[in-house]
Amino acid sequence: MSEPRPVAVIVLAAGEGTRMKSRIPKVLHPLCGRSMLGHALAAAGDLAPERLVVVVGHNRDEVSAEAERHAPGVQVVVQDRQGGTGHAVRTVSEALGDLAGIVVVTYGDMPLLRPQTLAALVREHATAGNAVTVLTALVPDPAGYGRVIRDGSGALAEIVEDADATAAQRAINEINSGCYAFDGALLADAVKRVATSNAQGQEYLTDVVAILRGDGHLAGTVLAGDPAEIQGVNDQVQLAQVRRAFNERLLEDWMRAGATIMDPASTWIDVDVTLAPDATILPGTHLEGRTDIGAGARIGPGCVLRDTSVGPDAMLLYTVCESAEVGPGATIGPFARLRPGTRISAGAHIGTFVELKNSTVGEGAKVPHLSYVGDADIGERANIGAATIFANYDGVAKHHTTVGAHVFTGSDTVLVAPVTIGDGAYTAAGSVVTEDVPPGAIAVARGRQHNAPGWVERKRPGTGSAAAAAQAREAAARETQAEEIQAEEIQANQASAKESSAGEPSAGEATEGDEGAPA
Ligand code: UD1
Ligand code: CA
Repeated sequence: MSEPRPVAVIVLAAGEGTRMKSRIPKVLHPLCGRSMLGHALAAAGDLAPERLVVVVGHNRDEVSAEAERHAPGVQVVVQDRQGGTGHAVRTVSEALGDLAGIVVVTYGDMPLLRPQTLAALVREHATAGNAVTVLTALVPDPAGYGRVIRDGSGALAEIVEDADATAAQRAINEINSGCYAFDGALLADAVKRVATSNAQGQEYLTDVVAILRGDGHLAGTVLAGDPAEIQGVNDQVQLAQVRRAFNERLLEDWMRAGATIMDPASTWIDVDVTLAPDATILPGTHLEGRTDIGAGARIGPGCVLRDTSVGPDAMLLYTVCESAEVGPGATIGPFARLRPGTRISAGAHIGTFVELKNSTVGEGAKVPHLSYVGDADIGERANIGAATIFANYDGVAKHHTTVGAHVFTGSDTVLVAPVTIGDGAYTAAGSVVTEDVPPGAIAVARGRQHNAPGWVERKRPGTGSAAAAAQAREAAARETQAEEIQAEEIQANQASAKESSAGEPSAGEATEGDEGAPA
């Protein structure tokens, strides 16, 4: 049997969410890469309904915009005053007219609800021929929830809200999740008959159950296997709990698919991230947006990757990436930053304190230390010396730099864009390169060194530097003197040896006992 397809899924999202105490509308709070509303619409969309409807009220502009962003073609119905869940559905019914077929109602603030659970609800509803089927859960603490009341035969009789329940009813721990499948035509009629004679003076959608039973229709339930799924979010504490639960669920799925997660408690992952088998994620790592990690890659500790693809066997350590691509076997970090448009080829190395933006780094090339690379192409096997800076910005516009294959830039080179360094060329350390360098040339673009001897003793007397300079000067003088004496002794020895053999001194030879004689 093919899956029954609902005529509509209605996502209720008109509430104010005051307990969040936040400027952000409740259903727009994000977790695991989507707003709560985004998660609800994704689960609803999985049922492939003919119409996807969202009911908005508070912050309607922001909430509608988010709904349309996630589910283009979504039908937005405005509920002007929040008269209760029954009123919300009646408003939809009035706005959209007859909905003949299965209508599912769910909430925008229940992000843990699985699409499979919704599908099971719809399937049971269709199979049993119910007028209404309620998703329920057994919870240890049912306070605050509507209770599931059964008749003598065990069939669903009604739902009683916490505020309206008797003590005996409050003791029931089967609760209403707030998620239902209805017969659309029967629902449209029943919501018109919902009264407001209850503790909150609201039109309760839950009253539809008793109304339909009273009309002689069938009502049933589906028990959520995992009660966590129906956890709603009303405040920041619940948001954190739900976020952690969602994150754990995603990580468990990836671990079952072969990824290694060393510390799930400190690893955060978004719904659209993919991990290949044997990808290893180390503690303190956030994988966000559409990030894909290749087989055998090792990410972390301490990485934050957004919309980034990492090839097989690459290694990233304490690295931040956004909209970047890291090729197979590349090694990045520690403490590197890859900004949008960075593409690192296979086997390349990006080292400590290196920032890149809108640049490609060729196969096996290295940018090991303390560099900024912006708007550049670096050829294969190039070696970019420590503290090389690509000066891409002239204060008005950005310019491009091309570095050829096997180029070697000396430490502290500044490449002032636009500039091209030919294949196999070198730059001397400390060069400020403003003109193209032909292939194979070395560019030396720096001032020639000039030393002014004795400057420190003359200009900085009384400083530690001057004292050190004086000491060094005296030590050098003593050494020179000792060398002179040694040289004289050698000469004298040679002379006496000559004398004893030839009997007369040679021309220009110093007389023994002259200045410089040993003391
Ligand atoms: C509702 C159910 C309760 C169930 C619980 C599960 C009713 C009367 N009660 O109670 O049985 O156990 O959910 O969480 O339905 N909303 C609108 N318009 C409105 C009122 C609410 O869009 O006029 C939306 C809210 O934004 C929210 C959802 O409906 O997302 C639930 O509303 P809420 O007021 O939180 O209902 P509960 O009192 O929690
Ligand atoms: Ca609620």
